[in-house]
Amino acid sequence: MDLLYRYALKPILFTLSPDFVHDVFITTGEIAGRFAFSRALFNLFYGYQGPDISKTVDGLIYHTPVLLSAGFDADGRLTRILPSLAFGGEEIGSVTAEPCAGNPLPRMTRLIRNKSIVVYKGLRNHGVDALIAKLRRTRRERGFVLGISIARTNIQSASTDVEAGIRDYVESFKKLNESGIGDYYTINISCPNSFTGETFVQPELLAQLLPRLREVPCEKPVYLKMPINVSWEQFEKMLDIADKNNIQGVIIGNLNKNYGDLAYPEDAPKEFRGGLSGSPTFALSNDLIRKTRQMYGTRFTIIGTGGIFTPEQALEKFAAGADLVQLVSGMVFEGPGLMRKICEHYAAERGVLS
Ligand SMILES: Cc1cc2nc3c(=O)[nH]c(=O)nc-3n(C[C@H](O)[C@H](O)[C@H](O)COP(=O)(O)O)c2cc1C
Repeated sequence: MDLLYRYALKPILFTLSPDFVHDVFITTGEIAGRFAFSRALFNLFYGYQGPDISKTVDGLIYHTPVLLSAGFDADGRLTRILPSLAFGGEEIGSVTAEPCAGNPLPRMTRLIRNKSIVVYKGLRNHGVDALIAKLRRTRRERGFVLGISIARTNIQSASTDVEAGIRDYVESFKKLNESGIGDYYTINISCPNSFTGETFVQPELLAQLLPRLREVPCEKPVYLKMPINVSWEQFEKMLDIADKNNIQGVIIGNLNKNYGDLAYPEDAPKEFRGGLSGSPTFALSNDLIRKTRQMYGTRFTIIGTGGIFTPEQALEKFAAGADLVQLVSGMVFEGPGLMRKICEHYAAERGVLS
C-alpha cells in the first residue's frame, strides 16, 4: 500500500493544488469514518496491531503515542477514521470564537525538495459553536484522544487590541469547558500566518492572558503551543509564566518563519507568505524540547512536533524528551502508512528510550 501511495497516488496528487487535495482528503476521510467496513479496511492496511504501546499522559489514555497535529482537521471531521491510521489522538483546530474564512488562496504551497509546506491558511475554520455541535453529533472511538486547539479569531480589526484578543480566547475556552467537549485544550499563541497570531508570545502579554484563562473552571489538561523562532531567553520566560499559571504541558512547536532555514531557499516565495512546516522545523523543535526537559524535568508534559518523516525521526523526538509526538507534513509526503511504521519502530525500540 505504501508503494501504491508513493509511486501511483502521490505523483498524481502532487500535480493538483494542495488546497484541493486537502479538501478531497477531508471529505473522503469523513465518509470512510462513518462505516464500520471502511474503518476496518483502513485499519487492516494502516492500523497498528503490534504489542501494547498505549500511554497514559495527564490521565488520558492514548492507544498509540502518535497524534495528528493541529491544522489538518480544523473542523473535527476525521475523528472516526484516524484511529484506523494508527493515530492515538488528534489535535482538532485551531478553532476560533468566530468562524474564519482564512487567507486568500493558495493557502498551502508544497516545497517538495525541501519537504515542507508554506502554510498560509489563516486559521480557516467554522468557529467554536459549529465545532461543539459537530463533535456532539459524532461517536467517539475508544483509546483515541481529542485535543482541541484554540486560537484567536483571525480578523484584521483585532490586530492591536490585546484585551479583545484575551476575551476572544476566553470565549472559546469557556464554551468548550462548559460543553465538556474535548479531552485536552491547547492555547495556540504562535500562529505565524494570521493578523493577530503571535501577539501573546510576548511574555508580558502571555502573563496577562493565562491568568484570565485560569479564571474559567477547567478540569482538563491545558497545553500551550510554543513558537520555535524565539530566543531561548524568551522561550524560558514563556515557560516560567506557563509554570506559574498551572499549564500542564507544551507543544513544541509551531511553524518556522525563517525561509533561510530551507535546504533550497530559492524555492520559497519571494515575500513572506506564512510559516514553514516539515523539515525546517525538525532541528529547532528538537533543540527546544531537549532544553525544556533539561531545565524543567517532568514539570511539563511535552508534545514534540515538527519534521517527522521517518520512524527514526519520531524516536529522536522521544529521545529529546517528548512524551508524545504529533505530525502532519510527514503524512502528506510519506503517505498514510507512516504512523503505523512509527508505532512498530517505537514498539521495537522503546526499551532504549527509558
Ligand atoms: C496545513 C497546515 C495547517 C496548520 N494549521 C495549524 C493550526 O491551525 N494550529 C496550529 O497550532 N498549528 C497549525 N499547523 C502547524 C502544525 O500543527 C505543526 O506544528 C507543524 O506543521 C509542524 O509539524 P509537521 O512538520 O509534522 O507538519 C499547521 C500546519 C499545516 C501543515
